[in-house]
Amino acid sequence: MWVFGYGSLIWKVDFPYEAKRIGYITGFSRRFWQGSTDHRGVPGQPGRVVTLVEDPVGRVWGVAYKLPTGREQEVKRHLDHREKGGYRVMAVAFHPRPPLAPPPSQTLLYIGSRDDPNYLGPAPLEEIANQIVRSEGPSGQNTEYLFQLADAVRRILPEDDDAHLFGLETLVRQRLERDGSRK
Ligand code: SIN
Repeated sequence: MWVFGYGSLIWKVDFPYEAKRIGYITGFSRRFWQGSTDHRGVPGQPGRVVTLVEDPVGRVWGVAYKLPTGREQEVKRHLDHREKGGYRVMAVAFHPRPPLAPPPSQTLLYIGSRDDPNYLGPAPLEEIANQIVRSEGPSGQNTEYLFQLADAVRRILPEDDDAHLFGLETLVRQRLERDGSRK
C-alpha cells in the first residue's frame, strides 16, 4: 500500500514507511482551499490548508510512501485519524520521477472534497493570505504549515513550480514583515 503526500505529508512524516518515491499525479492542482479546524485553526475560525482540486491540465508533485509490509492497516489508521478533518481517501495513478524503479502504479491520497463542511473553496489570494496570518490551531500556526510546505517543495520537489503556493508564501511573508515593522 502506497500513500501519496502533496501537503503536510511531505514535511511532517510522523509515520513509519518502507520506501518512498518522488513523483507526480495528473488531473489535479494543489490549492489552499481546505479549512482546518483540528490542526491549523479551530471550529469557527478555520485555518487554510491544502487539498487537490480537479484540473484537466494540472500536475501535482509529491512523495509516495510505501507503508510497512504487515503494518499497512495500523499505519493507515494513524493517517486516517490525522486527516480526519474533512479528507476522504481515493486511489490515483502515480508517475515516478525517472529513473527510479520499481514505481508504484497506484497510490492512495487524502483529498478534501467540496461536499465536506470543512471545504472552503476558492478565494482571492490576498484573502487566503490574511486568513493564514491570523489562524492557529492545536498543531500550531497556519503560517508554519505554509512555510514548511513551501520550503519542502523547493528542497525535495524542485520541478514543482506551484504559483499558488509560492505566491501565497510571498504575500504572507510581506504581511508578517509589514506587521513586524509596525511594532
Ligand atoms: C495534516 O496532517 O493534515 C495537518 C498536519 C499539521 O497541520 O501539522
